[in-house]
Amino acid sequence: MMTQSTLQHLMQRGTDFLGCETAIMCGAMSWVSERNLVSAISNAGGFGVIACGAMTPDLLDTEIAETMKRTDKPFGVNLITMHPDLMELIAICGKHGVTHVVLAGGLPPKGSLEAIKETGAKVICFAPALSLAKKFLRSGVDAIVIEGMEAGGHIGPVSTSVLAQEILPEIAEQLPVFVAGGIGTGEMIAAYLEMGASGVQLGTRFVCAHESIAHPDFKKAFIRGNARDAITSVQVDPRLPVIPVRALKNKGTEEFTRKQIEVAKLLDSGEIEMGEAQLQIEHFWAGALRKAVINGDIEYGSVMAGQSVGMVKAEESVAEIIKSLVEQAETALAR
Ligand SMILES: Cc1cc2nc3c(=O)[nH]c(=O)nc-3n(C[C@H](O)[C@H](O)[C@H](O)COP(=O)(O)O)c2cc1C
Repeated sequence: MMTQSTLQHLMQRGTDFLGCETAIMCGAMSWVSERNLVSAISNAGGFGVIACGAMTPDLLDTEIAETMKRTDKPFGVNLITMHPDLMELIAICGKHGVTHVVLAGGLPPKGSLEAIKETGAKVICFAPALSLAKKFLRSGVDAIVIEGMEAGGHIGPVSTSVLAQEILPEIAEQLPVFVAGGIGTGEMIAAYLEMGASGVQLGTRFVCAHESIAHPDFKKAFIRGNARDAITSVQVDPRLPVIPVRALKNKGTEEFTRKQIEVAKLLDSGEIEMGEAQLQIEHFWAGALRKAVINGDIEYGSVMAGQSVGMVKAEESVAEIIKSLVEQAETALAR
């Protein structure tokens, strides 16, 4: 009989829940997490998640079908709660028998959790605070992801280590919790598992996988980047709200600061109204992630990356990345 390693034992709840071999999720990354990367992650024993982002229901329909052609393993679909066609997107997931739906971007609108459950899928939500984790527990969410501000992309204000200390002791016994944000090595995975996590979610570490369709220049920026280069978007004027996003600093991030100062001046002189000013700020980054990931414009596009970018050293296959994370975690646990 094969004996189970400590790592497999600690991940058991996570692997049972996800239906995969290794409780390592590759978090949805808009433009990056499409059919190729998602199927590669699931085929390698991890758990891939399609980033629906702003896709139309038709596009999501195709993406799920194409992913299913490439893997017969389970994978998830990440839906943004603000999407105007959320209910239609849920129906598309149901049509394909998607097993796990991840809801991102704030509180799920009324009826959405129920609609997902009716399709037979499990629902995973992001809990940025203990109070929300408790609320999700009460409302029948099947698992939560806690994501700290070290992560790439849109972030909350609290670090992963603090969220883990606050949320795991209270929630992990009742609900599988996956920890995300700033995880670059297996040592860190082992530590969160020992604290009670059922698994982890990584994004940044998988961007440079061979199977990722990100532009070669986007990958080069990751391989060159250090932790300190992955900065959060800066808000210059209290009247003009800026959504916190972590990305590699470049000409675009400098330009964004200049843009805010310029808009604030126009507001002061009465040349534009508040609504128009806020729209100009909001629209500054529209299309910027696609520009960087797909077109390779790493100077003016948005190169969303987490602080763990410093631990991305080379382009590797998904299988190699997962294998080294697992080996590091096993070594750490044996110590
Ligand atoms: C380029 C990029 C795009 C992302 N896009 C999304 C997204 O569309 N939806 C989402 O829920 N999370 C998104 N994330 C967050 C990841 O799913 C994941 O939680 C995060 O990357 C984990 O932290 P890490 O980057 O430190 O590994 C994105 C992250 C990156 C780096």
